[in-house]
Amino acid sequence: MFDRKHTCVVVVGAQWGDEGKGKLVDVLAERADLVIRYQGGANAGHTVVVGDRQFVLHQIPSGILHGQATCVVGNGVVLDPETFFAELDQLAAQGIDIGGRLFVSDRAHLVLPYHKLLDQASEKQQQIGTTGRGIGPTYEDKIGRRGVRVADLIRDAGARDALAPRIARANQMLELMGAAERADLDQHVELAGRLGARLRPLATDTGLMAWQAIRGGRRVLLEGAQGAMLDVDHGTYPFVTSSTTTAGGAAVGAGIGPTEIDGVLGVVKAYTTRVGNGPLPTEAAGELEGRLRQLGGEFGATTGRPRRCGWFDAPVVRYSVRVNGLTGLAVTKLDVLDTFAEIPVAVGYRLDGEVCHGMPSDVDALERVEPVYETLPGWERSTSGARTLADLPPAARAYLDRLQDLAEAPIRYVSVGTRRDQIIEV
Ligand code: IMP
Repeated sequence: MFDRKHTCVVVVGAQWGDEGKGKLVDVLAERADLVIRYQGGANAGHTVVVGDRQFVLHQIPSGILHGQATCVVGNGVVLDPETFFAELDQLAAQGIDIGGRLFVSDRAHLVLPYHKLLDQASEKQQQIGTTGRGIGPTYEDKIGRRGVRVADLIRDAGARDALAPRIARANQMLELMGAAERADLDQHVELAGRLGARLRPLATDTGLMAWQAIRGGRRVLLEGAQGAMLDVDHGTYPFVTSSTTTAGGAAVGAGIGPTEIDGVLGVVKAYTTRVGNGPLPTEAAGELEGRLRQLGGEFGATTGRPRRCGWFDAPVVRYSVRVNGLTGLAVTKLDVLDTFAEIPVAVGYRLDGEVCHGMPSDVDALERVEPVYETLPGWERSTSGARTLADLPPAARAYLDRLQDLAEAPIRYVSVGTRRDQIIEV
Protein backbone atom coordinates (compact mmCIF):
# COMPACT_ATOMS: atom_id res chain seq x y z
CA MET A 1 0.00 0.00 0.00
CA PHE A 2 2.85 2.38 0.76
CA ASP A 3 4.63 4.04 -2.15
CA ARG A 4 5.64 7.55 -3.19
CA LYS A 5 2.03 8.58 -3.80
CA HIS A 6 0.51 6.74 -0.85
CA THR A 7 2.12 7.74 2.42
CA CYS A 8 -0.94 7.99 4.66
CA VAL A 9 -2.93 4.77 4.64
CA VAL A 10 -5.90 3.54 6.69
CA VAL A 11 -6.55 -0.12 7.55
CA VAL A 12 -10.15 -0.92 8.49
CA GLY A 13 -12.21 -4.00 9.16
CA ALA A 14 -14.77 -4.44 6.39
CA GLN A 15 -17.09 -6.95 8.11
CA TRP A 16 -17.93 -7.36 11.83
CA GLY A 17 -14.41 -7.06 13.22
CA ASP A 18 -11.80 -9.76 13.87
CA GLU A 19 -10.86 -9.83 10.18
CA GLY A 20 -7.14 -9.97 10.94
CA LYS A 21 -6.32 -6.26 10.94
CA GLY A 22 -3.63 -6.85 13.57
CA LYS A 23 -1.69 -9.04 11.20
CA LEU A 24 -2.05 -6.65 8.25
CA VAL A 25 -1.03 -3.68 10.38
CA ASP A 26 1.93 -5.67 11.65
CA VAL A 27 3.02 -6.45 8.08
CA LEU A 28 2.50 -2.87 6.84
CA ALA A 29 4.07 -1.35 9.96
CA GLU A 30 7.40 -2.70 8.84
CA ARG A 31 7.34 0.13 6.29
CA ALA A 32 5.64 2.75 8.50
CA ASP A 33 7.16 5.53 10.55
CA LEU A 34 4.05 6.31 12.56
CA VAL A 35 1.16 3.97 13.46
CA ILE A 36 -1.98 5.53 14.96
CA ARG A 37 -4.93 3.76 16.62
CA TYR A 38 -7.85 6.14 16.18
CA GLN A 39 -11.09 4.70 17.65
CA GLY A 40 -12.46 2.04 19.95
CA GLY A 41 -10.58 0.91 23.01
CA ALA A 42 -9.99 -2.23 25.02
CA ASN A 43 -12.95 -3.89 23.25
CA ALA A 44 -10.55 -4.61 20.37
CA GLY A 45 -8.24 -7.59 20.36
CA HIS A 46 -5.54 -7.71 17.71
CA THR A 47 -3.67 -11.00 17.58
CA VAL A 48 -0.22 -10.97 16.03
CA VAL A 49 2.08 -13.98 15.72
CA VAL A 50 5.81 -13.27 15.52
CA GLY A 51 7.93 -16.40 15.18
CA ASP A 52 6.57 -18.80 17.76
CA ARG A 53 5.25 -16.02 19.98
CA GLN A 54 1.70 -14.72 20.02
CA PHE A 55 0.84 -11.18 21.10
CA VAL A 56 -2.72 -10.03 21.77
CA LEU A 57 -2.93 -6.26 21.70
CA HIS A 58 -6.02 -4.44 22.89
CA GLN A 59 -5.13 -0.76 23.03
CA ILE A 60 -1.53 -0.42 21.93
CA PRO A 61 -1.16 -0.20 18.13
CA SER A 62 0.04 -3.44 16.54
CA GLY A 63 2.94 -1.44 15.04
CA ILE A 64 4.69 -1.54 18.42
CA LEU A 65 6.10 -4.96 17.51
CA HIS A 66 8.38 -3.29 14.93
CA GLY A 67 11.36 -1.51 16.42
CA GLN A 68 11.32 1.52 14.13
CA ALA A 69 7.65 2.56 14.28
CA THR A 70 6.43 5.27 16.62
CA CYS A 71 2.97 4.38 17.91
CA VAL A 72 0.15 6.64 18.90
CA VAL A 73 -3.15 6.21 20.70
CA GLY A 74 -5.18 8.93 19.01
CA ASN A 75 -7.80 11.32 20.35
CA GLY A 76 -10.65 9.15 19.02
CA VAL A 77 -9.72 6.19 21.21
CA VAL A 78 -11.31 5.70 24.61
CA LEU A 79 -8.37 4.67 26.75
CA ASP A 80 -8.66 2.37 29.74
CA PRO A 81 -5.54 3.42 31.67
CA GLU A 82 -5.51 0.40 33.99
CA THR A 83 -5.46 -2.23 31.23
CA PHE A 84 -3.31 0.00 28.99
CA PHE A 85 -0.45 -0.06 31.46
CA ALA A 86 -0.99 -3.76 32.17
CA GLU A 87 -0.60 -4.34 28.42
CA LEU A 88 2.50 -2.15 28.32
CA ASP A 89 4.09 -4.05 31.23
CA GLN A 90 3.24 -7.35 29.58
CA LEU A 91 4.94 -6.27 26.33
CA ALA A 92 8.00 -5.10 28.26
CA ALA A 93 8.10 -8.49 30.01
CA GLN A 94 8.01 -10.13 26.56
CA GLY A 95 11.07 -8.10 25.57
CA ILE A 96 9.38 -5.45 23.40
CA ASP A 97 11.23 -2.17 23.80
CA ILE A 98 8.69 0.64 23.93
CA GLY A 99 10.99 3.40 25.21
CA GLY A 100 10.17 6.70 23.53
CA ARG A 101 8.01 5.04 20.84
CA LEU A 102 4.56 5.26 22.38
CA PHE A 103 2.42 8.37 22.78
CA VAL A 104 -1.15 9.03 23.87
CA SER A 105 -3.34 11.91 22.79
CA ASP A 106 -4.04 14.28 25.65
CA ARG A 107 -7.51 14.69 24.09
CA ALA A 108 -8.40 10.98 24.35
CA HIS A 109 -11.22 10.16 26.73
CA LEU A 110 -10.67 7.76 29.61
CA VAL A 111 -12.58 4.62 30.43
CA LEU A 112 -12.85 4.54 34.22
CA PRO A 113 -14.20 1.77 36.48
CA TYR A 114 -17.61 3.47 36.68
CA HIS A 115 -17.98 3.18 32.89
CA LYS A 116 -17.56 -0.57 33.14
CA LEU A 117 -20.21 -0.81 35.85
CA LEU A 118 -22.58 1.21 33.64
CA ASP A 119 -21.79 -0.98 30.61
CA GLN A 120 -22.55 -4.14 32.54
CA ALA A 121 -25.76 -2.74 34.01
CA SER A 122 -26.95 -1.47 30.63
CA GLU A 123 -26.14 -4.82 29.03
CA LYS A 124 -28.60 -6.51 31.38
CA GLN A 125 -31.32 -4.30 29.88
CA GLN A 126 -30.32 -4.04 26.23
CA GLN A 127 -28.43 -7.24 25.42
CA ILE A 128 -26.25 -5.93 22.64
CA GLY A 129 -23.59 -8.46 23.59
CA THR A 130 -20.96 -5.82 24.38
CA THR A 131 -17.49 -6.71 25.54
CA GLY A 132 -18.32 -5.12 28.91
CA ARG A 133 -15.24 -2.90 28.67
CA GLY A 134 -17.08 0.37 29.31
CA ILE A 135 -16.85 1.54 25.70
CA GLY A 136 -20.46 2.71 25.17
CA PRO A 137 -20.79 4.69 28.44
CA THR A 138 -17.42 6.41 27.83
CA TYR A 139 -18.44 7.57 24.35
CA GLU A 140 -21.82 8.63 25.80
CA ASP A 141 -19.99 10.79 28.34
CA LYS A 142 -17.76 12.21 25.61
CA ILE A 143 -20.70 13.30 23.48
CA GLY A 144 -22.60 14.38 26.61
CA ARG A 145 -19.65 16.69 27.43
CA ARG A 146 -19.02 15.17 30.84
CA GLY A 147 -16.10 12.88 29.96
CA VAL A 148 -12.69 12.70 31.61
CA ARG A 149 -9.78 13.20 29.23
CA VAL A 150 -6.12 12.28 29.50
CA ALA A 151 -5.40 15.98 29.94
CA ASP A 152 -7.66 16.01 33.02
CA LEU A 153 -5.96 13.04 34.62
CA ILE A 154 -2.43 14.32 34.22
CA ARG A 155 -3.25 17.64 35.81
CA ASP A 156 -2.06 17.35 39.41
CA ALA A 157 -4.73 19.10 41.33
CA GLY A 158 -8.43 18.54 41.41
CA ALA A 159 -8.90 14.88 40.55
CA ARG A 160 -11.27 14.46 43.48
CA ASP A 161 -13.23 17.62 42.66
CA ALA A 162 -13.50 16.66 39.01
CA LEU A 163 -14.40 13.05 39.69
CA ALA A 164 -16.93 13.53 42.50
CA PRO A 165 -19.88 14.77 40.36
CA ARG A 166 -19.20 12.10 37.73
CA ILE A 167 -19.19 9.31 40.29
CA ALA A 168 -22.35 10.70 41.88
CA ARG A 169 -24.05 10.77 38.50
CA ALA A 170 -22.88 7.25 37.63
CA ASN A 171 -24.26 5.99 40.94
CA GLN A 172 -27.63 7.64 40.26
CA MET A 173 -27.70 5.91 36.88
CA LEU A 174 -26.76 2.57 38.43
CA GLU A 175 -29.56 2.96 40.93
CA LEU A 176 -32.04 3.81 38.17
CA MET A 177 -30.93 0.74 36.25
CA GLY A 178 -31.49 -1.44 39.30
CA ALA A 179 -27.83 -2.45 39.55
CA ALA A 180 -26.47 -3.53 42.93
CA GLU A 181 -22.93 -2.19 42.40
CA ARG A 182 -21.81 1.38 43.09
CA ALA A 183 -18.74 3.29 41.93
CA ASP A 184 -16.31 4.29 44.65
CA LEU A 185 -14.85 7.82 44.61
CA ASP A 186 -11.73 6.95 46.65
CA GLN A 187 -10.88 4.12 44.26
CA HIS A 188 -11.13 6.52 41.32
CA VAL A 189 -9.02 9.19 43.03
CA GLU A 190 -6.35 6.59 43.82
CA LEU A 191 -6.37 5.39 40.21
CA ALA A 192 -6.14 8.96 38.90
CA GLY A 193 -3.13 9.67 41.12
CA ARG A 194 -1.31 6.43 40.29
CA LEU A 195 -1.93 6.32 36.55
CA GLY A 196 -1.95 10.06 35.91
CA ALA A 197 1.74 10.08 36.81
CA ARG A 198 2.45 7.25 34.34
CA LEU A 199 0.41 8.90 31.59
CA ARG A 200 2.10 12.28 31.89
CA PRO A 201 5.29 11.48 29.93
CA LEU A 202 3.30 9.78 27.15
CA ALA A 203 0.62 12.44 26.72
CA THR A 204 0.92 14.95 23.91
CA ASP A 205 -0.88 16.60 20.99
CA THR A 206 -0.74 13.53 18.74
CA GLY A 207 -2.67 15.28 15.93
CA LEU A 208 0.29 17.63 15.65
CA MET A 209 2.63 14.63 15.56
CA ALA A 210 0.60 13.16 12.70
CA TRP A 211 0.60 16.46 10.83
CA GLN A 212 4.36 16.86 11.18
CA ALA A 213 4.95 13.28 10.03
CA ILE A 214 2.74 13.78 6.95
CA ARG A 215 4.32 17.13 6.12
CA GLY A 216 7.75 15.53 6.52
CA GLY A 217 6.88 12.87 3.91
CA ARG A 218 6.94 10.07 6.46
CA ARG A 219 4.71 7.01 6.23
CA VAL A 220 1.68 7.04 8.46
CA LEU A 221 -0.53 4.04 9.09
CA LEU A 222 -3.95 4.57 10.64
CA GLU A 223 -5.08 1.41 12.43
CA GLY A 224 -8.81 0.83 12.76
CA ALA A 225 -10.57 -1.47 15.20
CA GLN A 226 -13.81 -3.50 14.88
CA GLY A 227 -15.47 -3.44 11.45
CA ALA A 228 -17.83 -1.49 9.20
CA MET A 229 -20.91 -3.44 10.27
CA LEU A 230 -20.23 -2.39 13.88
CA ASP A 231 -20.03 1.31 12.92
CA VAL A 232 -22.40 3.43 15.01
CA ASP A 233 -23.83 5.07 11.84
CA HIS A 234 -23.42 2.46 9.13
CA GLY A 235 -23.55 -0.82 11.05
CA THR A 236 -26.39 -3.03 12.21
CA TYR A 237 -27.68 -0.45 14.71
CA PRO A 238 -28.31 -0.88 17.63
CA PHE A 239 -26.10 -3.99 17.54
CA VAL A 240 -22.98 -1.94 16.96
CA THR A 241 -20.10 -0.47 18.91
CA SER A 242 -20.15 3.19 19.90
CA SER A 243 -17.55 4.62 17.53
CA THR A 244 -17.04 5.36 13.86
CA THR A 245 -15.27 2.24 12.67
CA THR A 246 -15.41 3.26 9.01
CA ALA A 247 -12.56 5.15 7.36
CA GLY A 248 -14.07 8.61 7.93
CA GLY A 249 -13.38 8.08 11.62
CA ALA A 250 -9.67 7.78 10.90
CA ALA A 251 -9.27 11.46 10.13
CA VAL A 252 -11.32 12.61 13.11
CA GLY A 253 -9.82 10.10 15.52
CA ALA A 254 -6.22 10.75 14.50
CA GLY A 255 -6.63 14.51 14.36
CA ILE A 256 -5.85 15.04 10.67
CA GLY A 257 -7.91 16.25 7.72
CA PRO A 258 -9.55 13.72 5.38
CA THR A 259 -7.59 15.05 2.41
CA GLU A 260 -4.38 13.71 3.96
CA ILE A 261 -5.50 10.10 3.48
CA ASP A 262 -4.14 8.44 0.33
CA GLY A 263 -5.56 4.93 0.54
CA VAL A 264 -7.93 2.72 2.52
CA LEU A 265 -7.32 -1.00 2.86
CA GLY A 266 -10.34 -3.06 3.93
CA VAL A 267 -9.56 -6.33 5.65
CA VAL A 268 -12.05 -9.16 5.05
CA LYS A 269 -12.04 -12.78 6.05
CA ALA A 270 -12.55 -15.29 3.25
CA TYR A 271 -15.75 -16.07 5.17
CA THR A 272 -17.67 -14.11 7.84
CA THR A 273 -17.76 -13.99 11.63
CA ARG A 274 -19.47 -11.91 14.28
CA VAL A 275 -19.29 -11.75 18.09
CA GLY A 276 -22.26 -10.46 20.02
CA ASN A 277 -25.91 -10.18 19.07
CA GLY A 278 -27.56 -8.83 15.92
CA PRO A 279 -28.16 -9.99 12.35
CA LEU A 280 -25.65 -12.17 10.51
CA PRO A 281 -27.35 -13.11 7.22
CA THR A 282 -24.88 -15.78 6.10
CA GLU A 283 -24.56 -17.54 9.47
CA ALA A 284 -23.81 -21.21 8.77
CA ALA A 285 -25.95 -23.99 10.12
CA GLY A 286 -24.95 -26.44 12.89
CA GLU A 287 -22.03 -28.64 11.99
CA LEU A 288 -20.67 -26.36 9.26
CA GLU A 289 -20.54 -23.42 11.64
CA GLY A 290 -18.71 -25.55 14.21
CA ARG A 291 -16.23 -26.62 11.55
CA LEU A 292 -15.49 -23.03 10.49
CA ARG A 293 -15.13 -22.01 14.14
CA GLN A 294 -12.78 -24.82 14.97
CA LEU A 295 -10.63 -24.49 11.82
CA GLY A 296 -10.48 -20.71 12.12
CA GLY A 297 -9.91 -20.65 15.90
CA GLU A 298 -12.91 -18.35 16.07
CA PHE A 299 -13.01 -17.37 19.72
CA GLY A 300 -12.95 -13.70 20.76
CA ALA A 301 -9.47 -12.33 21.53
CA THR A 302 -10.93 -10.01 24.18
CA THR A 303 -13.72 -12.02 25.79
CA GLY A 304 -13.00 -15.59 24.63
CA ARG A 305 -16.61 -15.87 23.42
CA PRO A 306 -17.20 -18.29 20.50
CA ARG A 307 -17.66 -16.25 17.33
CA ARG A 308 -20.69 -16.85 15.13
CA CYS A 309 -19.44 -18.07 11.74
CA GLY A 310 -20.80 -18.06 8.22
CA TRP A 311 -20.02 -17.65 4.55
CA PHE A 312 -18.58 -14.72 2.64
CA ASP A 313 -21.26 -12.09 2.35
CA ALA A 314 -20.69 -10.04 -0.81
CA PRO A 315 -23.47 -7.49 -0.10
CA VAL A 316 -21.74 -6.68 3.21
CA VAL A 317 -18.33 -6.23 1.61
CA ARG A 318 -19.72 -4.25 -1.33
CA TYR A 319 -21.44 -1.95 1.16
CA SER A 320 -18.23 -1.69 3.09
CA VAL A 321 -16.34 -0.71 -0.06
CA ARG A 322 -18.82 2.12 -0.48
CA VAL A 323 -19.04 3.48 3.06
CA ASN A 324 -15.27 3.26 3.59
CA GLY A 325 -14.12 4.29 0.12
CA LEU A 326 -11.92 1.19 0.07
CA THR A 327 -9.09 1.34 -2.45
CA GLY A 328 -8.04 -2.25 -1.82
CA LEU A 329 -8.93 -5.44 0.01
CA ALA A 330 -6.87 -7.81 2.10
CA VAL A 331 -8.46 -11.27 2.23
CA THR A 332 -7.43 -13.19 5.34
CA LYS A 333 -7.74 -16.77 6.57
CA LEU A 334 -8.09 -18.28 3.09
CA ASP A 335 -6.41 -21.40 4.50
CA VAL A 336 -9.37 -21.98 6.85
CA LEU A 337 -11.40 -23.01 3.78
CA ASP A 338 -8.77 -25.49 2.56
CA THR A 339 -10.73 -28.64 3.44
CA PHE A 340 -14.18 -27.67 2.15
CA ALA A 341 -15.32 -29.46 -1.02
CA GLU A 342 -17.79 -26.69 -1.83
CA ILE A 343 -17.95 -23.12 -0.54
CA PRO A 344 -21.15 -21.06 -0.59
CA VAL A 345 -20.82 -17.32 -1.19
CA ALA A 346 -23.73 -14.90 -0.77
CA VAL A 347 -23.96 -12.82 -3.94
CA GLY A 348 -27.12 -10.90 -3.01
CA TYR A 349 -30.14 -10.82 -0.70
CA ARG A 350 -33.86 -11.30 -1.13
CA LEU A 351 -36.14 -9.46 1.23
CA ASP A 352 -39.77 -10.60 1.55
CA GLY A 353 -39.42 -12.32 -1.81
CA GLU A 354 -37.99 -9.30 -3.67
CA VAL A 355 -34.41 -8.68 -4.79
CA CYS A 356 -32.83 -6.41 -2.22
CA HIS A 357 -30.61 -3.61 -3.51
CA GLY A 358 -28.14 -2.11 -1.08
CA MET A 359 -27.96 -2.80 2.64
CA PRO A 360 -31.19 -2.56 4.65
CA SER A 361 -30.90 0.10 7.34
CA ASP A 362 -33.60 -1.56 9.41
CA VAL A 363 -32.15 -4.28 11.58
CA ASP A 364 -35.40 -6.29 11.49
CA ALA A 365 -35.27 -6.30 7.69
CA LEU A 366 -31.66 -7.46 7.80
CA GLU A 367 -32.73 -10.28 10.15
CA ARG A 368 -35.30 -11.32 7.52
CA VAL A 369 -33.15 -11.20 4.37
CA GLU A 370 -32.44 -14.46 2.62
CA PRO A 371 -28.98 -14.65 1.10
CA VAL A 372 -28.78 -15.76 -2.52
CA TYR A 373 -25.92 -18.23 -2.62
CA GLU A 374 -23.57 -19.26 -5.36
CA THR A 375 -21.62 -22.42 -4.60
CA LEU A 376 -17.97 -22.36 -5.62
CA PRO A 377 -15.76 -25.45 -5.81
CA GLY A 378 -13.28 -25.86 -2.96
CA TRP A 379 -9.62 -26.69 -3.60
CA GLU A 380 -9.12 -29.33 -0.90
CA ARG A 381 -5.40 -28.63 -0.67
CA SER A 382 -3.30 -26.70 1.78
CA THR A 383 -2.70 -23.06 0.84
CA SER A 384 -0.61 -22.20 3.90
CA GLY A 385 2.70 -22.47 2.03
CA ALA A 386 1.65 -20.17 -0.85
CA ARG A 387 3.68 -16.96 -1.16
CA THR A 388 2.47 -15.83 -4.60
CA LEU A 389 -0.90 -16.10 -6.32
CA ALA A 390 0.65 -18.62 -8.71
CA ASP A 391 1.32 -20.94 -5.75
CA LEU A 392 -2.41 -21.18 -5.03
CA PRO A 393 -4.57 -24.02 -6.42
CA PRO A 394 -6.63 -22.82 -9.44
CA ALA A 395 -9.91 -23.18 -7.50
CA ALA A 396 -8.55 -20.94 -4.72
CA ARG A 397 -7.54 -18.31 -7.30
CA ALA A 398 -10.99 -18.57 -8.88
CA TYR A 399 -12.55 -18.12 -5.44
CA LEU A 400 -10.53 -14.93 -4.87
CA ASP A 401 -11.35 -13.64 -8.37
CA ARG A 402 -15.04 -14.12 -7.65
CA LEU A 403 -14.80 -12.31 -4.31
CA GLN A 404 -13.00 -9.42 -5.97
CA ASP A 405 -15.63 -9.14 -8.73
CA LEU A 406 -18.49 -9.29 -6.25
CA ALA A 407 -16.90 -6.81 -3.86
CA GLU A 408 -16.00 -4.39 -6.66
CA ALA A 409 -12.57 -3.64 -5.19
CA PRO A 410 -9.12 -5.02 -6.01
CA ILE A 411 -7.49 -7.59 -3.75
CA ARG A 412 -4.05 -6.36 -2.62
CA TYR A 413 -3.15 -8.99 -0.03
CA VAL A 414 -4.11 -12.57 0.73
CA SER A 415 -3.24 -14.09 4.08
CA VAL A 416 -2.89 -17.87 4.36
CA GLY A 417 -1.88 -18.31 8.00
CA THR A 418 -1.11 -16.49 11.20
CA ARG A 419 2.65 -16.05 10.72
CA ARG A 420 4.15 -12.85 9.33
CA ASP A 421 5.53 -14.61 6.26
CA GLN A 422 2.19 -16.25 5.39
CA ILE A 423 1.02 -13.42 3.21
CA ILE A 424 0.73 -12.89 -0.54
CA GLU A 425 1.17 -9.37 -1.87
CA VAL A 426 -0.81 -9.16 -5.10
P1 IMP B 1 -18.73 -2.80 22.72
O1 IMP B 1 -17.81 -2.26 21.68
O2 IMP B 1 -18.01 -3.52 23.84
O3 IMP B 1 -19.70 -1.78 23.22
O4 IMP B 1 -19.61 -3.95 22.03
C1 IMP B 1 -20.59 -3.66 21.04
C2 IMP B 1 -20.59 -4.74 19.96
O5 IMP B 1 -19.36 -4.69 19.23
C3 IMP B 1 -20.69 -6.17 20.50
O6 IMP B 1 -21.40 -6.95 19.55
C4 IMP B 1 -19.25 -6.63 20.54
O7 IMP B 1 -19.14 -8.05 20.48
C5 IMP B 1 -18.73 -5.97 19.28
N1 IMP B 1 -17.29 -5.74 19.31
C6 IMP B 1 -16.62 -4.79 19.98
N2 IMP B 1 -15.30 -4.89 19.75
C7 IMP B 1 -15.13 -5.90 18.91
C8 IMP B 1 -13.98 -6.46 18.25
O8 IMP B 1 -12.84 -6.02 18.40
N3 IMP B 1 -14.23 -7.50 17.42
C9 IMP B 1 -15.47 -7.97 17.19
N4 IMP B 1 -16.57 -7.49 17.77
C10 IMP B 1 -16.40 -6.46 18.60
